[in-house]
Amino acid sequence: MSVHAKAAICRGSDEPLTIEDVTLDALRPDELQVRIVACGVCHTDMAVRDQQLLVPLPAVLGHEGAGIVEAVGSAVTTAKPGDRVILSFNSCGDCPNCEIDAPTYCYNFFPHNWTGVRADGSPTLMHNGEKLNANFFGQSSFATQVISHERNTVRVPDEAADLPLERLCPLGCGLMTGAGAVLRSMKVRAGLPIGVFGAGTVGMAAIMAAKIAGADPIVAVDVNDDRLAMAKELGATHAFNAKNDAIAKIQELCPEGLGYVLDTTGLNKVIEDAWSLLAPKGVCGIVGASDPEDNLTFNEAAFMGGGRRVMGILGGDSDLKTFLPELIGYHLEGKFPFEKLIGYFDFHQINEAVAASENGSVVKPVLRIGAEG
Ligand SMILES: NC(=O)c1ccc[n+]([C@@H]2O[C@H](COP(=O)([O-])OP(=O)(O)OC[C@H]3O[C@@H](n4cnc5c(N)ncnc54)[C@H](O)[C@@H]3O)[C@@H](O)[C@H]2O)c1
Ligand SMILES: [Zn+2]
Ligand SMILES: [Zn+2]
Repeated sequence: MSVHAKAAICRGSDEPLTIEDVTLDALRPDELQVRIVACGVCHTDMAVRDQQLLVPLPAVLGHEGAGIVEAVGSAVTTAKPGDRVILSFNSCGDCPNCEIDAPTYCYNFFPHNWTGVRADGSPTLMHNGEKLNANFFGQSSFATQVISHERNTVRVPDEAADLPLERLCPLGCGLMTGAGAVLRSMKVRAGLPIGVFGAGTVGMAAIMAAKIAGADPIVAVDVNDDRLAMAKELGATHAFNAKNDAIAKIQELCPEGLGYVLDTTGLNKVIEDAWSLLAPKGVCGIVGASDPEDNLTFNEAAFMGGGRRVMGILGGDSDLKTFLPELIGYHLEGKFPFEKLIGYFDFHQINEAVAASENGSVVKPVLRIGAEG
């Protein structure tokens, strides 16, 4: 029997998203049908809408879904019908990086997340009798029902039974990326200074994680004063507006240089300036979506002589099945208060939610798509 759903279709940057009727394909053995309760809006959705990231359009986007499992394929052991789950990126499970539990760098990341169809080329969604691009991050969660996969579906641990899914959903991308960048990718050491450039969801998660790691000082840089104020609430010891000589102020604060800088802006000049602040053996982590034409320029002698590193980071090196429960644990202990970032919107307000993300008025918009109970 076909499963019908409502999904927000993206046709590009010239048109608003529209919620329309779609039909799900039959489940494969390793797939789950999830009724979406809530989904976060992430900058990467907009990067696809604007075709900075070349996922084929029209498509159903959304990659921070959380919901209730309705049905499972014959080989699924991760969750059963009725379970509460968080969805994240998908991976192949067979490549050299999946083998070492580094699935964010899956050799087959693209076909499993960004082609609009399953890795075998088959569609997961139909619209008016025709194939519709979906399976975005193995989910396409701007929808009431989705197909997810054994590898990108994480059961919410029992300790978090009292936490609503509408709070937990953003863990699957922006939050895990920022926190993972600090705790897993760069492995920030206690007592060393860190600079976080861009205080959006990813940057704020990095700041909270830097506090958990014991970094000191923790410097936030943004162009938005409200966000800088929130960054200080969440753990930044210093906050500088980029429009106001931030680099010179950081040099004055940390004359020996920074152990770590994390760029979440994707802006060429910001990354180069951040890099210039590194102490010997310092690490510059890059997570922001950049213009595909941009290239960085570094001084080779400083790069080699100081043993400095530049690190591209995807998904915060998260191994979903261990890191999402770890983050939920920090949240329950009050060390990862990401609820302060969230602003809620009803599903039909999806274009307002996107606008709120873009104009900076809400750090993490979350769409309420279905009731949890
Ligand atoms: N690598 C990954 O795995 C991964 C995962 C999630 C998101 N992303 C990308 O990371 C980036 C950040 O995501 P987000 O959700 O936090 O976005 P966001 O838009 O909420 O945050 C970006 C922040 O940068 C600030 N900013 C803009 N110009 C600046 C400047 N010159 N100096 C300092 N700050 C400046 C903005 O005011 C904003 O607060 C996006 O490009 C997103 O696509 C990457
Ligand atoms: Zn893989
Ligand atoms: Zn994302």
